Amino acid sequence: MNNTSRILCKALQGKIMSAEQAAALIPSGVNVGMSGFTGSGYPKAVPAALARHITEANKDGRKFRISVWTGASTAPELDGVLAEADGVEMRLPYQSDPICRKRINAGQMEYLDIHLSHVAQFVWFGFLGKLDVALVEVAGILEDGRLVPSSSIGNNKTWLDQADKVILEVNSMQSARLEGMHDVYYGTNLPPNRMPIPLVKPQDRIGDPYMHVDLNKVIAIVETNAPDRNSPFSPPDENSRLIAGHILEFFEHEVKKGRLPKNLLPLQSGVGNIANAVMAGLNNGPFDNLTAYTEVLQDGMLDMIRSGKLSMASATAFSLSDDGLAEFNRNIEMYREKIILRPQEISNHPEVIRRLGVIAMNGMIEADIYGNVNSTHVMGSSIMNGIGGSGDFARNAYISIFMTPSQAKNGQISCIVPMASHVDHTEHDVQIIVTEQGLADLRGLSPNQRAKVIIENCAHPKFKDALLDYHKRAFEGSFGRHTPHLLDEALSWHRRFVAEGKM
Ligand code: COA
Repeated sequence: MNNTSRILCKALQGKIMSAEQAAALIPSGVNVGMSGFTGSGYPKAVPAALARHITEANKDGRKFRISVWTGASTAPELDGVLAEADGVEMRLPYQSDPICRKRINAGQMEYLDIHLSHVAQFVWFGFLGKLDVALVEVAGILEDGRLVPSSSIGNNKTWLDQADKVILEVNSMQSARLEGMHDVYYGTNLPPNRMPIPLVKPQDRIGDPYMHVDLNKVIAIVETNAPDRNSPFSPPDENSRLIAGHILEFFEHEVKKGRLPKNLLPLQSGVGNIANAVMAGLNNGPFDNLTAYTEVLQDGMLDMIRSGKLSMASATAFSLSDDGLAEFNRNIEMYREKIILRPQEISNHPEVIRRLGVIAMNGMIEADIYGNVNSTHVMGSSIMNGIGGSGDFARNAYISIFMTPSQAKNGQISCIVPMASHVDHTEHDVQIIVTEQGLADLRGLSPNQRAKVIIENCAHPKFKDALLDYHKRAFEGSFGRHTPHLLDEALSWHRRFVAEGKM
């Protein structure tokens, strides 16, 4: 494939059309599997054309809506425009768009927040209904119709395989040199005929660099030339630097104790600025020859590959800033050798994560004093983004770490609370909690022991006395003393902030 001609398959050239024409082929009421994962590799033109179409249709009083399935979050040109047009009946499995979020929390849009590793198999099992249309961005189409994946893979293989009809966006802004970086595993059978996934090291290639599609299903091809979302990262703030410092110190301690090898174990790092700061910390830290088996590759990992600290990274998507992308394209020949993109059912596969002994590091909204973690909800009822891959990694990791600043909303709310208002990761799946105050190592501790360590090491001093007092009174007055709670009080912890108008 070269930069000038991206659609080499002659049989498909007659299917090239405008985004408007392609959008008109998507009827109301269908399930559409779209590409896109953390702002990369999403279709750039057809969703916006579809949103215009929906807006027009709804003016006539029709209720034109589709269900949108993706890899994970996308961008304003997909989630934003379709939500704005009130065109989404059901959204799954993860989103982070402000307009979507508003509509979901207003009860105007259905949202199914599921583990990212579950999506493909739920579709294969038929749990989610029929997939009608696949709308997938690719970097190119070869002579024989094989597809060069874009800057993310996500669930694309499954969409192409399961959908009745396929619309492809061929984005010539994606580097032609992405060709060969992907590893698309086609060996998954359904139970009871499943076989082990033959991946024993993050660098293993077990599949095919291309995706396959039945050419008869392709109903439209749209050419685009548009960038991914590429959000900037802020330089690590003081809290992120402190959190990264605690994690590094913990790793050094574990190496000394012989519980981690000198080059650690494959790293998984969530999205966002804290995760990026941890990578910056590792880049300046004492560990060499690291590897990553993760979901998303942010700027921090590129820095580590460039410096030689990270010998290779496996993920399902890029999530780079403009600067990060420019750096990637400048040195793509070097990065090509060290990065593998896989379908998300493999990047997030519990079997592989458990086998490799991945070190999972994810952000959270709050943790309670017993170690239950809330990654998704504010006040137990309002969704922020979704669980994403955090559950895939947390449950199956060698060590599962959750991190957050100790307080939110300008210091008005403690992120360590008596009882999490929503639980995504239970006390059984959480080994380490870190805030800028310190790190709580929960391994081997009972609930009451955990409470003391979490409050002492992680809570902000401003909230410590109230939390200690709660735990003491709960121990004295609780129905049972294994996980002591004063239920009325625990559940009303946040209420006063609402009463004071702070949330
Ligand atoms: N109470 C109320 N709101 C809180 C809060 C708390 N305890 N903690 C954070 N928030 C709010 C922040 O105020 C901010 O809101 P704003 O955008 O209105 O300012 C928002 O949550 C995001 O918080 P921020 O501090 O910017 O953290 P972040 O970007 O690191 O995101 C999560 C934290 C938990 C939202 C994010 O990590 C996430 O979505 N996690 C779930 C998915 C996941 O882990 N994916 C990776 C798996 S591979």
